[in-house]
Amino acid sequence: MTKISGPLDIVVMGASGDLARRKIFPALFSLFCQGYLPDQLRFFGFARSKLTDDEFRGRITEHLTCRYAPGESCADLMSDFLSRCRYMAGNYGSSEDMLDLYQLMQAEKRCEANILFYFAIPPSVFLDVSRALGDAGMIRCTQEEPWTRAVIEKPFGQDRESSDNLTCELGKVFTEDAIYRIDHYLGKEVIQNLMVLRFANLVFEPIWNRHYIERVWIDWREDLGLEGRAGYFDSYGVIRDVMQNHLLQILALIAMDKPQQASAQHVRDEKVKVLRRISPVTLDHAVLGQYGAATWRDKDRVGYRQEPDVSPSSCTPTFCAARLEIDNDRWRGVPFIVRAGKAMNAKENEVRIQFRSMESNLFSSGRRTLPPNELVVRIQPNEGIYLGLNNKEPGHDLTLEKRDLDLRYASAYPGMIPDAYECLLLDVMEGDKSLFIRSDELEAAWDIFTPLLHKIDEDKLEPDLYPFGSYGPVIDKILLD
Ligand code: NDP
Ligand code: BG6
Repeated sequence: MTKISGPLDIVVMGASGDLARRKIFPALFSLFCQGYLPDQLRFFGFARSKLTDDEFRGRITEHLTCRYAPGESCADLMSDFLSRCRYMAGNYGSSEDMLDLYQLMQAEKRCEANILFYFAIPPSVFLDVSRALGDAGMIRCTQEEPWTRAVIEKPFGQDRESSDNLTCELGKVFTEDAIYRIDHYLGKEVIQNLMVLRFANLVFEPIWNRHYIERVWIDWREDLGLEGRAGYFDSYGVIRDVMQNHLLQILALIAMDKPQQASAQHVRDEKVKVLRRISPVTLDHAVLGQYGAATWRDKDRVGYRQEPDVSPSSCTPTFCAARLEIDNDRWRGVPFIVRAGKAMNAKENEVRIQFRSMESNLFSSGRRTLPPNELVVRIQPNEGIYLGLNNKEPGHDLTLEKRDLDLRYASAYPGMIPDAYECLLLDVMEGDKSLFIRSDELEAAWDIFTPLLHKIDEDKLEPDLYPFGSYGPVIDKILLD
């Protein structure tokens, strides 16, 4: 284990929000408990909500866990961690407020610290914050210590044009080296394993193409509704929130060609190549949905349009299924069905690679074909890899059944699986950009969804209603060949 060099200040913009409370501070606490963070370490939260330091600490505490420090030591670690946390309320676009923040950071005089800014805010305020930080003189444009780095959350913009504009404008404040465009799915253990699965096992590469694979599903379901995130979500919707980034990154890792080397540059080059071969999604190849009120798990759930701060006529999709096609020799004709939905019947994220059926069935005159093989990569929960095979059921008769070869992480790796944010935050502190998004990847990803997003916004397309807690709308129209 290498301890990050200090001193280090971590400033979380949008510290009152869902991401900061549920993911960033818990990940920082985990790294703190494991001894990765320097001794000279402080955390600063900034947002518009008026909170005292103690109220802020109270909010953070709700989500800190003792998983890396079970027993009595956890309480001591928690109080040490919380004593390093300060909060300041201010406006995102105000350089005066940023100067106040700077003064708070300077309060305990010591040598200059590295500064990590985390933008846990809606993209609409990324630029305001950057400019205000720049105007307040808080950004150092050097790679040397003490450095300043900025972690920018997804979605990076609203469409291709606004994303390009954001890249250009952010470039006036931060150097490209200092910008870390995060997609936390790339930090998830099973997603980090996708390349190893494909390129460290000879069995897959020969059949990883249209001759053997019939269809690929990339499925993402969440059993939560808006959870108070209207301020962000209602202007973005599920395509920008999840599909354009998390799901396309998974797709790129599944579909790309083998990189010459496992280096960040070669891997990202291959991802860009395959993303550029995907045609923009059309409305014929998409189903849009929005959740409606229902009773689910014994509770009455409101529909999307009744959620606080959502307009009663909002057309923002909370569900989308899209059929993507890759125009290259490996994949021509193989549909990639990418589906994402909020307020569905489960939290589940997996990739299903469905192989073609065998042309003949040697084992039963009654059935012409055998069930096809299927490789399932379960990203969460219950991480695992399953290969569906036809197998002889033990006994005197020749009876075939479909069974899984299964690699469940919980039993294969009983130790703890690190959280994606822990891994990625460490990478930022170490200056490793391998798992962060390059600007050309971003451009290619926006090109796939921008025309559809414009159509949805301009025509105010009415999404299909599905009950909270259901499997979402019917998507048959995009499955037909
Ligand atoms: P929130 O809606 O909780 O927003 C974060 C904070 O930003 C809020 O506490 C609020 O703070 C401020 N805010 C909200 N809406 C606006 C607005 N319209 N204008 C200005 N400020 C606003 O969102 P999340 O924390 O969930 O998401 C923030 C970012 O993180 C998004 O880009 C999202 O894509 C990304 N993200 C979120 C994840 C999650 O699990 N929540 C996971 C991965 C990425 P205040 O009013 O106090 O200023
Ligand atoms: C975020 C989305 O990027 O991912 C959220 O903004 C979503 O809407 C979250 O809830 C899911 O992350 P995870 O790691 O819980 O799958």
